[in-house]
Amino acid sequence: MKDIAIKGATTPPTFEQAKNRRQKARSAGMDPDYWYAVEYDLALKPGQVIEVIFWHTSIALYRGQDGQLRALDNRCAHRHLKLSLGQVDGNYLVCNYHGWAYNEAGELTRIPHELFNKPMPVCKLQIYPVQVRYGLIWIFPGNPTLAEKRQIPDIPELEGDNRWACVPLDFTWNAHHSMIIDNVSDFTHAHLHRQYRPFTDAKLTRCEQIGDRVYVDYNTKVGTGKVFGLFVDRKRVNTNAMKLCYEYPYQWSSTDNQIKHWCFLLPINSRKTRVFFLFYFDAIIVPFTSLRIPQWLMTYVLKIANPLLIKPLLSQDGVAVEAEQIGYETHLDAPIIEISPAVHLFQQLTIQKWEEHLAKSEKKALCQVEAKFSDC
Ligand code: FES
Ligand SMILES: [Fe+2]
Repeated sequence: MKDIAIKGATTPPTFEQAKNRRQKARSAGMDPDYWYAVEYDLALKPGQVIEVIFWHTSIALYRGQDGQLRALDNRCAHRHLKLSLGQVDGNYLVCNYHGWAYNEAGELTRIPHELFNKPMPVCKLQIYPVQVRYGLIWIFPGNPTLAEKRQIPDIPELEGDNRWACVPLDFTWNAHHSMIIDNVSDFTHAHLHRQYRPFTDAKLTRCEQIGDRVYVDYNTKVGTGKVFGLFVDRKRVNTNAMKLCYEYPYQWSSTDNQIKHWCFLLPINSRKTRVFFLFYFDAIIVPFTSLRIPQWLMTYVLKIANPLLIKPLLSQDGVAVEAEQIGYETHLDAPIIEISPAVHLFQQLTIQKWEEHLAKSEKKALCQVEAKFSDC
């Protein structure tokens, strides 16, 4: 999806310039010291390289001929071309311009032209930890020493021999990540989905922040749409309530532990976010019967249901958040009229985590300056 110039819009304030909670939430980044889903594992074959952007930082992600994924700064040390424009040679990444080659440690290891009697320059690009889980490639864009301590969320239903079927969906929306979090966990927007009715008559029964999580529970009728409603096993599953959580920086929902989803955000910049949705169910029946659809068959069911039901439903959210982004940029100083307490907590957590990150970065920069002086 292309960035669109907004007629009548003014440049939104930066986080430092933000004058109120909404402006702060809409300009906050996401803490890089977490694992972020960036691409499907199957999207990258051996010998391929792509660009991935995490909050303005461009990363070259490639798969060597040995099948291993590697990620490094997307900037050739020579004249700063993006390495994602280059080629994978064995397990090296080669810049397209003069052919300088980098190894998996990010070290410049080969220059294929004359060196003019000079020694080989010593250059090392930043590398990023990478892993694959749930069919997605995850990158740790922050301090690599924290990568082992931080975990990708455990989803036991999606691992092991008896794992549930899941066919992920993704979208790239021209909207700030905080707008997407407000959208996916706040059920005051049932009107938007009046055609599909994924949740109706929602009444908030819990809304609280505990640590880095905001818990939101609703009494609501889940999946009452004309088509999806036929497939839901209402005898076995309580479809009158749903729990949701903004588990920073991720989001999930659960209906009686049988209808679940995770939402993984990749913040690209302040008005563009890629979002991966993983839906998985153990509550789907053959319509007009009580026969449960076994998990082995669910992959095929989801391959049909995703484009017919789930994708059109989520696309309505995409249209809404992109329109909200335009509205925000056009009316930056309009009064804030937000009545959902859940949205207040989501925005508060986003701001709090970004402030913590900025404070950490400032402290680190200060320590580096002090270390430099003490060396002298
Ligand atoms: S710019 Fe990359 S090798 Fe020259
Ligand atoms: Fe929605």
